[in-house]
Amino acid sequence: MDRFIIEGNGPLNGTVNVSGAKNAALPLLAASILTEDHLELGNLPRVQDVATMCALLERIGMGVQRTEDNAVLSGSSLHSHIAPYDLVKTMRASILVLGPMLARMGIARVSLPGGCAIGARPVDLHLKALERMGAEIIQETGYIEARAARLKGAPITFDKVTVTGTENIMMAATLAQGVTVLHNAALEPEVVDLADCLNAMGARIKGQGTSTIVIEGVERLHGATHETMPDRIEAGTWLCAAAITQGHVTVNRMQPEHLTAVLQTLAAAGVPMSVGCNCVEVRPHHGLHARDIVTQPYPNFPTDMQAQMTALMTQASGVSQITETIFENRFMHAAELARMGAQIQVNGRTARVTGGTELTGAKVMATDLRASASLVLAALAAEGSTTINRIYHLDRGYADLETKLQALGGNIRRAGARTKNLDRPKLVVA
Ligand code: UD1
Repeated sequence: MDRFIIEGNGPLNGTVNVSGAKNAALPLLAASILTEDHLELGNLPRVQDVATMCALLERIGMGVQRTEDNAVLSGSSLHSHIAPYDLVKTMRASILVLGPMLARMGIARVSLPGGCAIGARPVDLHLKALERMGAEIIQETGYIEARAARLKGAPITFDKVTVTGTENIMMAATLAQGVTVLHNAALEPEVVDLADCLNAMGARIKGQGTSTIVIEGVERLHGATHETMPDRIEAGTWLCAAAITQGHVTVNRMQPEHLTAVLQTLAAAGVPMSVGCNCVEVRPHHGLHARDIVTQPYPNFPTDMQAQMTALMTQASGVSQITETIFENRFMHAAELARMGAQIQVNGRTARVTGGTELTGAKVMATDLRASASLVLAALAAEGSTTINRIYHLDRGYADLETKLQALGGNIRRAGARTKNLDRPKLVVA
């Protein structure tokens, strides 16, 4: 299994380009199922989750041609309605094929995603919504089987804000008979990116980016070309990397308006920044102050930035209260950061970080994607050498992490099976 070895060696300096958003790319790829024509997607990040989604699409008969950051998806040869366990178990977001397969084929059989390290993560809200649209759903032998000759538009109120739930139902509703209205829909920019792509394919969606999305079903969708939006969580991670090393870094090809809550927290913590149209320049700070954060759905502070901000707060003077409201078990990084000298007490959904401690290199274990990113940040600020094991979590969601970090002056190297191809981690098709 691969590992990263990182030597804390002072400030990062330079410019880094943000890749396309993993969490936008996955639903965009799933949307290709909705049409027989070609969907051409650009700016796809070279990460394992994208490779897994492409493998899943190929398994059900979709044509998938990938070149660099692009993919041409072709739905004319779609022949299977089964998303099997061996692929779904490696990536929960595989559930995103359920709505499109059902809408296009009238039947879908998708392995139930299991729990994951950060929480139980049920998909009950996806299923309830499809039932409201007339689908018959049975769950047996670890699979969800949904059937509907044609889905019917319906008013749907999500009990909780769910990002992939909103995306799944929005995709299904594009081919339904009649109008679907989603209440308490997710506002996340990735939902807007998906709606924009679906509209380019001939869908009739309004209200994306608000909590009420209206989808008027159409008979068929056609091909389109779409550029994946930049990854706001990758961008936020680089901002924290610059801040934790007292570096001077320009984070380029990002959309600062997608990171307002994170930028506000960083500014209040004492990080000097200049915000441009599609970039943010972080300048060296003269000491950080503790800030409290509470994770909440967009546009509030994202749960996917909580672990990175926790790492940063270990270097701020004072005490920060970090409250996680989205996932019930998302402080696994706290124990690993503590092995590096951080003082963090976790009590239920709140972590109390006593900042200003010196971090020292240690052997640590990555537990999930964003927790792994927080360990990279801590390692950059630590005295000595840190070995981060199980970095396959990072490969799932950060494109070219070590090459980008090396270009900023970070001392990071990969050890293990993939070391032969350092500039482009080889994507393993699950
Ligand atoms: C997406 C993101 C993930 C991010 C999360 C929250 C993708 C591929 N992943 O995950 O990176 O951390 O949003 O911003 O976009 N819930 C239910 N029942 C459901 C669905 C969700 O109870 O049917 C709960 C979840 O357990 C969680 C909350 O709702 O407590 C929000 O989850 P959700 O927004 O669905 O997260 P994902 O879409 O899985």
